[in-house]
Amino acid sequence: MSISKIVREDIKKLKPYIPGKHMDELKRELGITQIIKLASNENPLGPSRRAVEAGTEALKNANLYPDSYCFYLKRTLAEKLGVDSSNILVGNGSDEIIKLLGETFLSKGDEVVTPSPSFSEYIFASNLMGAEVITVELEDFKINLSKMHEAITEKTKLVFICNPNNPTGTIVTKKELEEFLDILPDHVVVVIDEAYHEYVSDSEYPNGIDYINSGKKVIVLRTFSKIYGLAGLRTGYAVASSELIQWITRVKEPFNVNSVAQHAAIESLKDEDHVSKSKKLIHEEKQYLYKQLDEMGLFYIPTHTNFILIDVETDSNWVFNELLKKGIIIRTGDIFNLPTFIRVTIGTRMQNKKFLDELAQILKRVSKKARAF
Ligand SMILES: Cc1ncc(COP(=O)(O)O)c(C=O)c1O
Repeated sequence: MSISKIVREDIKKLKPYIPGKHMDELKRELGITQIIKLASNENPLGPSRRAVEAGTEALKNANLYPDSYCFYLKRTLAEKLGVDSSNILVGNGSDEIIKLLGETFLSKGDEVVTPSPSFSEYIFASNLMGAEVITVELEDFKINLSKMHEAITEKTKLVFICNPNNPTGTIVTKKELEEFLDILPDHVVVVIDEAYHEYVSDSEYPNGIDYINSGKKVIVLRTFSKIYGLAGLRTGYAVASSELIQWITRVKEPFNVNSVAQHAAIESLKDEDHVSKSKKLIHEEKQYLYKQLDEMGLFYIPTHTNFILIDVETDSNWVFNELLKKGIIIRTGDIFNLPTFIRVTIGTRMQNKKFLDELAQILKRVSKKARAF
C-alpha cells in the first residue's frame, strides 16, 4: 500500500516552510567562502559575549536533561516584563509556540484570521490542524485591523497580528490595536507576534503585554532569535494569562528548551549593552540604506525592524540568484506574492555596502523595459 494512503489528509495540503538559504549550502553549491547572509533577520553582531560564556558553561552538564519548567529563565523574563512567571511559556523558538497554539486551539471546522503577506508559520500551524485560514490582504503594506475584524466569524478561534509585520516591517498603532481589541468577540484569542519588538522606537507602537490584564484573550510572542542573536539556540516565549499558559503547556514536550539555550537566554537578557549596541547599529544602518536606495531610485517600505522590503522592479528570483553568485543571500518576494520585491536583513556597514554595490551592478544589466516585469 502506498504510504500516502495512510498519511493524514491535512498533512498532504501543507506547504513546507522555506527557510532562508543556509551559508553552508551556498558554500557546497558554489564553493563561495566569503558569504554575507541577509536572509533571516539575524543579528549581525552575533550573540552577547556573556550569553556565549553562559551557554559554554552549561554545555558541561549536557549529560543532564534541561529544566522542563525553565524556572530561572521565566523568573528573569518575569522580572524584566513586570509579569508573573505563570504568565510565561518558553518554547523551542516562537515557531514551536505557534505550532503549540494550533495544537491547543484548532480542529477541523475552526477558522483562523491572518494578514497576508505575513509570517508563514501561522498558516502552517492552522493547516496542520485542519483549520481554515482566512487571509486578509495588507493595505498599503500595512495590516488593516478593521478588515481583520470583518473577517472574524462565529468559527474564528485565533487571529494573528504580526507587529511589526514580517515581511513589510510596518506596525499597527496603539490606537488601532485598542479599537480592535475593544470590539473583539469573547470567543477569539488574539496572538500578537512581536518578534521584532525590541527594534521599534515609534511612540505609537503598542506593547502587547499591556493588554493581557485587561481581560482580553491576548497572547504575545517574543523571541531570542532576533535582537538577542540566539537564533541557532531556538528560544522564544509567549506571555499571556496564566489560564491560557496552562492550557498551552499541556501540549508542549517536557524538555523542549535545551539547557544551553536556557542559560544563554538568561545572560542575554542581562546584557543590556549588547541590546543597545544592536539597536544603534540597526538604526544607523537603516538611515544609510534609505539614503543609498533613494539615490538608486528604488522604492522601499520604511521599516520598524532589522529588515527592509525593496522593490527591484524586476524578477526578484533573478536578482536573488545573481546576488548568490556574489556570495550574498537575501529573500525573494515571490513567497510573499511580491515578485519584484526582495527582503533584506540590515547588516553591518561593510555588509550593507557590499550588498548595495552588487545590487547596483546587477540592476544596471537590466533594461528599463525588463524592469517593468
Ligand atoms: C514574525 C516572526 N515570528 C516568529 C519568528 C520565528 O522566530 P523563532 O526563531 O523564535 O522561532 C520569526 C522568524 O523569522 C518571525 O519573523
